[in-house]
Amino acid sequence: MQGFFTYILIFSFVSPCQCIRLNFGTENAFYNVILFGARGDGRSDDSQAFANAWHSGCKAGGMSTLVIPAGRLFMVTKINFTGPCKAKMNIQLQGQIVAPPKVAWKAGNYWISVEYVNGLTIDGNGKGGFDGDGSTWWECRNCYRPRMLFFHACNGLTVRNLRISNSPASHVAINMCNGATLSHIFIHSPSNSPNTDGFDISYSSNILIQDSNIKSGDDCIAVNGGSIFINATRVICGPGHGISVGSLGRNGVRETVSNVHVLNCTFIRTSNGARIKTIPGGSGYAKQITFDQIILENVMNPIIIDQEYSLTRATNVQVSFVTYRGFRGTSASDVAINLVCGGKTSSTCRNAHGTARNTIPYVPCLLK
Ligand SMILES: *[C@@H]1O[C@H](CO)[C@@H](O)[C@H](O)[C@H]1NC(C)=O
Ligand SMILES: *[C@@H]1O[C@H](CO)[C@@H](O)[C@H](O)[C@H]1NC(C)=O
Ligand SMILES: *[C@@H]1O[C@H](CO)[C@@H](O)[C@H](O)[C@H]1NC(C)=O
Repeated sequence: MQGFFTYILIFSFVSPCQCIRLNFGTENAFYNVILFGARGDGRSDDSQAFANAWHSGCKAGGMSTLVIPAGRLFMVTKINFTGPCKAKMNIQLQGQIVAPPKVAWKAGNYWISVEYVNGLTIDGNGKGGFDGDGSTWWECRNCYRPRMLFFHACNGLTVRNLRISNSPASHVAINMCNGATLSHIFIHSPSNSPNTDGFDISYSSNILIQDSNIKSGDDCIAVNGGSIFINATRVICGPGHGISVGSLGRNGVRETVSNVHVLNCTFIRTSNGARIKTIPGGSGYAKQITFDQIILENVMNPIIIDQEYSLTRATNVQVSFVTYRGFRGTSASDVAINLVCGGKTSSTCRNAHGTARNTIPYVPCLLK
């Protein structure tokens, strides 16, 4: 007993010094964009101030937090948050970041790109967000329209509590990232806005999108070629085009997707629910795809595999090990289950192998 008390006493005297020493390497320094010259008046271009704050934090040691304060509107024409960074980076996004109207746009392919940054956390605290002012772009349906947020080669990414709205094209692109959790993301664009995918994932692995709400004019989530271990859990989608694997095989290329888990998701008045789409002329596969515990409200094509039929080009993208489990709700069309696998589109079920149990409608056309 004696020895025990001695130990406690010594520890409490020594620990204050130890704390300081231990924390030194992971000290969190704050880089407030206002102190780097951002105006936050919704009109001045704050891009340079954001870049300066980012670079200062990025090259420091320990942990750096870029602070974008609440209650302000930061207009930026282009942001390129590039690593690798010496510091572990955080972005505390409490204010609003807004795009300029179309005429003042400078962004090229992406308005905000985050590249080669590992271990980044972006937290919107439920108040902060990005608005792409897309309405000035949507009217030009055939224009090349920039995307909004682009994560490229970012491993160990966390994005949470964020609102992202009105993108000229897709909202969030995730490319060549390994390990990302995106949660409590609220994406909002009108149902008639063209090509406004919520999330576009490509050449990435171990990506989890959860507890999020996506309203858009295109796919809520599109899982594109080169993706493996992609999950969507407790996502509410609609309006929009559903959660889609593909399109795979565009322009005759070989593309692969595997291990996709869509769990406890809800589709409200979407044109599709669970969709797998391949394009004739391409090759590759989509396999180990599971849609589990899905709630549907007035969905046009709740379950759809679409290997677009073409007289001249066969599809060599193989779709296999697809599971649909626990679908409940209402279909807005007569064909609730539509499995068109490389056959004539007049058939609703051809070359589709598998078993169907307790489904409404009954699917008698599946092959063993
Ligand atoms: C961002 O900056 C990096 C380095 O300067 C550059 O390689 C990259 O192309 C830029 N990305 C965009 C989208 O401007
Ligand atoms: C995705 O879900 C599967 C099945 O539930 C699980 O094994 C895997 O760890 C999950 N991956 C991620 C990145 O959440
Ligand atoms: C999915 O929903 C079921 C039933 O509502 C619930 O029991 C389960 O915990 C949920 N799982 C996840 C990972 O959200």
